[in-house]
Amino acid sequence: MMLKSIICHLALFGLGSARVQFLGMSIAGGEFGCQIDGSCPLGSTQLPLQSFKLGGGDGEGQMKHFATDDGMNLFRLPISWQFLVNNQLGSPLNTANLAKYDKLVQTCLATGAHCMIDIHNFARWNGGIIGQGGPTDEQFVSLWTQLATEYAASQNIVFELMNEPHDLDIPKWAATCQKVVTAIRSAGAKTQMILLPGSNFDSAATLVSGGSAAALMAITNPDGSTDNLVLDVHKYLDVDNSGTHAECITNNTGAFGEVATFLRQAERKGLVSETGAAPDGSACLARFCEQNSFINANSDVFVGLVSWAAGSFDTSYLLAQTPRFDGQKWVNNQLAADCVVDTWLKSSEVVPAPAPVASSSSAIVAVPTITSTSYLTGTRTISMTGTITTIEIQETSSAVIESSSTVLETDESQPTTILNAPALDIPTTVETTTNSAPIASMKSPAISNKYNTLQQAVL
Ligand SMILES: *[C@@H]1O[C@H](CO)[C@@H](O)[C@H](O)[C@H]1NC(C)=O
Repeated sequence: MMLKSIICHLALFGLGSARVQFLGMSIAGGEFGCQIDGSCPLGSTQLPLQSFKLGGGDGEGQMKHFATDDGMNLFRLPISWQFLVNNQLGSPLNTANLAKYDKLVQTCLATGAHCMIDIHNFARWNGGIIGQGGPTDEQFVSLWTQLATEYAASQNIVFELMNEPHDLDIPKWAATCQKVVTAIRSAGAKTQMILLPGSNFDSAATLVSGGSAAALMAITNPDGSTDNLVLDVHKYLDVDNSGTHAECITNNTGAFGEVATFLRQAERKGLVSETGAAPDGSACLARFCEQNSFINANSDVFVGLVSWAAGSFDTSYLLAQTPRFDGQKWVNNQLAADCVVDTWLKSSEVVPAPAPVASSSSAIVAVPTITSTSYLTGTRTISMTGTITTIEIQETSSAVIESSSTVLETDESQPTTILNAPALDIPTTVETTTNSAPIASMKSPAISNKYNTLQQAVL
């Protein structure tokens, strides 16, 4: 066996399958007590930093479970503005309270997932709308400047500017968001994803028709680009989109379809950061699964799907997707298992790979196509014609490419990742073939233990 550093680039970029890049769960509790007028009593905050054994929300156990057993790679961590500043509007972040929230954030980051900071205030503070009679834009900018400074070095942080704005002046709100985006980038968080939330509770049904989508998509980074500025999208399946009824009356394909069409025409991306249904609700199992399959099928414009909710919610909560610990392992309820995890894992529809994009540092000499995929075993076979001379691994840390005659190891110190392409976020084994003999299997170290185990079995 020969060891060798990977030199340059293989054109795996651009492979696409019909599922979103980021699948995740809200690990709720930091927003407990928040009302839609932006009141969030401090005493109600219940960060999921407890052990389930003590009857609390075991955010750490849940996130490890979802990441390891289900391959989830994004967790949403709601928190109230009041908690972060200890109820003192305009104050610096409260050190003690930030430390508690940060514990949850670090626990999330430790799973390897992306972690979303969600200010759960409905664009308000105690009844007053930000920049529209309530807190000033400067106070809101100050909050985000401090958070961005705190997490500037963490590439896996996602900034969700605000949960569910509603009943406000949309152009003014977009102007407020522009100031925050500029502040976040200027604080050093230059490339992290920022989610831009629209009015009417960010509803997929009205984002386009109500004007939010167009107003928010005009927001730019300081350099004029719109890189990693993503439309935030929410929607429930009950009669008034409130997520408070057990009956699911729609699969929302109309609403999400409208947003998808808008994004496609605008050449932009969206992320569904909140949706959910009642595990025991009428028609919910069918319609929630249909909805999530639809979102996955539109993964060219939807980069992620985050379900509501686990964390400090008891398993009896109307929309609970809180897993249960059976003494040995975590167990998802059927809604979470079938409609969130399985619609994603089992998505086998493969869209044609776009033409590979040539890199300046290497000639692309192989055109890969997916010949088979199994998300259940975590394997994917990719066939290539031509001569493979170069492979770019874009995961940080090591990856190993094996063949019958060659083992290529990446240099762990190199920045690296090819496998962040949407299709390849759980590519535990990539078998490639050249003209003749199979030459390579590729392991990604960023995948969960479950898949590592399966993969090693496969290898
Ligand atoms: C969503 O519901 C509509 C209306 O019942 C139905 O026609 C459509 O097939 C469903 N979509 C999916 C993805 O199942």
